[in-house]
Amino acid sequence: MTVTSDATGRYREVYGDEPTGLWAAPGRVNLIGEHTDYNEGFVLPFALPQRTVAAVGPAPAGEWTVSSTFADEPVSFGITEPGEVTGWASYPAGVVWALREAGFDVPGARIALSSEVPVGSGLSSSAALESAVLTALTDLGGLDLPLEKRPALAQRAENAYVGAPTGILDQSASMRCQPGRALFLDCRTYEVEQIPFDLAAAGLAMLVINSNAPHQHVDGEYGARRKSCEDAARILGVRALRDVTPDDLDAALARLDDDVMRRRVRHIVTEDQRVLDTVALLKAGRPREIGPLLTASHASMRDDFEITVAQVDVAVEAALSAGAYGARMTGGGFGGCVLALIDTDRAADTIKAVETAYAGHRFTAPTCWTVTAGPGATRI
Ligand code: GLA
Repeated sequence: MTVTSDATGRYREVYGDEPTGLWAAPGRVNLIGEHTDYNEGFVLPFALPQRTVAAVGPAPAGEWTVSSTFADEPVSFGITEPGEVTGWASYPAGVVWALREAGFDVPGARIALSSEVPVGSGLSSSAALESAVLTALTDLGGLDLPLEKRPALAQRAENAYVGAPTGILDQSASMRCQPGRALFLDCRTYEVEQIPFDLAAAGLAMLVINSNAPHQHVDGEYGARRKSCEDAARILGVRALRDVTPDDLDAALARLDDDVMRRRVRHIVTEDQRVLDTVALLKAGRPREIGPLLTASHASMRDDFEITVAQVDVAVEAALSAGAYGARMTGGGFGGCVLALIDTDRAADTIKAVETAYAGHRFTAPTCWTVTAGPGATRI
């Protein structure tokens, strides 16, 4: 069974007929640029080959039903306000709400979902769901909504309807990424540049190591990081930390009394620069050399932003000891996945090294696989 046939099968089972069409949207890994999005800075994600598929067909105006292979019961809703639909169905309900809030006449729909994006692993399964539904409703309704404006609507669904204070990274990645490219996104202007990202041509591979660490305190800690950055920007008199350059950094840090806040600022300012440096190396055809930037990003997340946990730190160390050019946690933090840039023929040895290190710490075993950059959300 594939995710496509699963979604179609669920549609037939729940609604008793054939869907009008199928839409797919991927999860993402962020190559570099963590927590920079809500500081109006830079990110560089690419789309995972793993996708969420929505099988969608028509329903009367003002009526929506969502079902999925990971929930027993379908959920039906009409025109709602934030808080009225909760649980997993709040994501599609939030997308309908955000589109309507933006003035679009959203068509009624019956939706069946299936996904191969691991949930709770920092690979943006929720953005994949939002992006598949938003793309389907936009296409079905013939809505005049250009691609570059779509991620902000899905983000609004997540912020205002679901209630998670996240940035625009995940939805941008799921909707705007292209195969074989990393998406260089300016989170202030939403301008993008598609950066060549064909590691195999350079004899390289990207290994994803799912730490399988239980996510803990994710929402509260994420919000606390965001508040600390916004407070710092206010004290420094800038619109966002994006406006502090590496040259300004020492002077900016000298103006902040709080040591924790200083370290949060240092992470964001240095991370933005690492994204720019990574982009420059990739454009120059020197992908192997991004390794140290990835590793420096991890150290900054561990020591300054303090969003890593033992499982991801151990995975990074083990991958580096096994010869990886660079390694870092990807995503919001407190668990989730690690990326390791390796020679193509080193995957098995690197995985073994991480598994051995995990066994030594008595951690739950990791799940590892190599990834290439896949397509963004589309009708399939
Ligand atoms: C989560 C959020 C994103 C971004 C990352 C950290 O994935 O949803 O908006 O802030 O964390 O880079």
